[in-house]
Amino acid sequence: RNSRMVKICCIGAGYVGGPTMAVIALKCPAIEVVVVDISVARINAWNSDQLPIYEPGLDDVVRQCRGKNLFFSTDVEKHVFEADIIFVSVNTPTKTSGLGAGKAADLTYWESAARMIADVSKSDKIVVEKSTVPVKTAEAIEKILTHNSKGINYQILSNPEFLAEGTAIQDLFNPDRVLIGGRKTPEGQKAVQALKAVYTQWVPEDRVITTNLWSAELTKLAANAILAKRISSINSISALCEATGANITEVAYSVGKDSRIGPKFLNASVGFGGSCFQKDILNLVYICECYGFLEAASYWKTVIKINDYQKSRFVNRVVASMFNTLSGKKIAVLGFAFKKDTGDTRETPAIDVCKGLLADKASISIYDPQVTEDQIQRDLTMNKFDWDHPIHLQPMSPTTVKKVSVTWDAYEATKGAHGICILTEWDEFKGLDYQKIYDNMQKPAFLFDGRNVVDVEKLREIGFVVYSIGKPLDTWLGVMPAVV
Ligand code: UDX
Ligand code: UDX
Ligand code: ADP
Repeated sequence: RNSRMVKICCIGAGYVGGPTMAVIALKCPAIEVVVVDISVARINAWNSDQLPIYEPGLDDVVRQCRGKNLFFSTDVEKHVFEADIIFVSVNTPTKTSGLGAGKAADLTYWESAARMIADVSKSDKIVVEKSTVPVKTAEAIEKILTHNSKGINYQILSNPEFLAEGTAIQDLFNPDRVLIGGRKTPEGQKAVQALKAVYTQWVPEDRVITTNLWSAELTKLAANAILAKRISSINSISALCEATGANITEVAYSVGKDSRIGPKFLNASVGFGGSCFQKDILNLVYICECYGFLEAASYWKTVIKINDYQKSRFVNRVVASMFNTLSGKKIAVLGFAFKKDTGDTRETPAIDVCKGLLADKASISIYDPQVTEDQIQRDLTMNKFDWDHPIHLQPMSPTTVKKVSVTWDAYEATKGAHGICILTEWDEFKGLDYQKIYDNMQKPAFLFDGRNVVDVEKLREIGFVVYSIGKPLDTWLGVMPAVV
């Protein structure tokens, strides 16, 4: 085995698998890394100049290794057959029907990947759980593999990924920690060491944590739940700030100065989005319920409740300020991605906000620097929880929302608008010429900042009626009936 290159195969060329494998390839020139996916379009994109995901710095890393020790392929079986270490990074949607609907993870894609591994393998494999999965998934996968093993030895490891989109490459280059969970048996520990040897090529050894399988699986759910809870905590305080005249930025800054709390992840917003937070909390809730811990389950549910409340509070604020009707009005939406520096729209708060504006009969004009019109139309017509079924694995919905237009420029989107909603904190929204925007809008011109990116005072001087999350209300908004 030592005489040839170690081979890694990653099943699933998505937001996690793609960047993670690219960085492993870059940092470990002696390892051959092949990323496989059943989506031909996705693999073609990884092999082209137009990568399927937008992630700062990713192009650079891919360009350096692709064709050398980094490959993208649809030949799933061949590369699984050849690999020593197999990462599984397929999607795990929330179940939409049957037992645990709306909460439990749907392990369909995971199970089919495991069965395929069992089918094609002829040599010992280390199988690494990379996508976030419910606690004890590794055990289920282990059962599928060992009951179909034909004498092959499988070691299952849990190696949850903590990268955040928009900063994925930085996070992978310099992770706070790498977590590897495995069996306490000698074979299990040998597998843990083999995976550890990959990461310590560039990660300091003291940042690699090894635990048992279930601790690793649960840590991922706990970390995301606690991060999301910080946002819901600060968002719940933001409502109080608006009502009392306190300023959320000042409060968050001073709270974060307590070293036990820390300054990060306390930005009030229109709500958190992304593929992980809501899904992982729902998973945690489901697990708590399964074990009969109903109080713990309802504790975590409130994190999602506050997030939903924050989104509807924002929509109510828009409608109430604009004389309780959006009928016949144009609302410009700046930003659709769930955060800046990504084109990803999974669970973005913009979906719920846009649906709320449409329900009040607004016409909306959307601009996002990275999200395509197709994607936006799909998001606004899709059902809750359907987003995690890859496009090629779900029926296409041809419907489009007629009252939604998508532009490639913030000035175009805001031309003739009655109001503006900022829903993603893209840097470029800070530097826009708001005087020019104001001049081209209907009056009174409203601006609702869901990400606290604009200079409220400056915009008020220009003439805008401004609402910004958790900031003292504009006198205009203060006199409106308290419906929010
Ligand atoms: C998250 C975790 O951070 C990461 O460790 C895990 O691996 C995957 O899930 P991600 O969803 O990519 O990463 O982005 P993140 O930066 O965590 O943002 C999630 C959402 O919270 C975004 O919608 C963001 O705008 C929002 N957010 C974040 C806030 O509203 N306020 C904050 O202070 C921070
Ligand atoms: C607290 C605040 O920390 C302090 O800033 C404020 O001025 C007053 O309230 P105090 O109540 O004196 O201070 O002690 P603290 O150390 O915060 O502990 C409060 C309780 O939480 C204790 O019962 C402690 O045992 C418990 N605790 C604390 C835990 O159970 N786990 C922890 O990780 C920390
Ligand atoms: P994440 O954000 O966790 O990376 P994505 O949805 O971006 O999730 O990526 C998951 C990828 O896994 C998709 O591109 C999907 O086509 C792929 N996939 C799902 N099931 C399989 C499978 N059985 N074999 C290969 N690829 C799969």
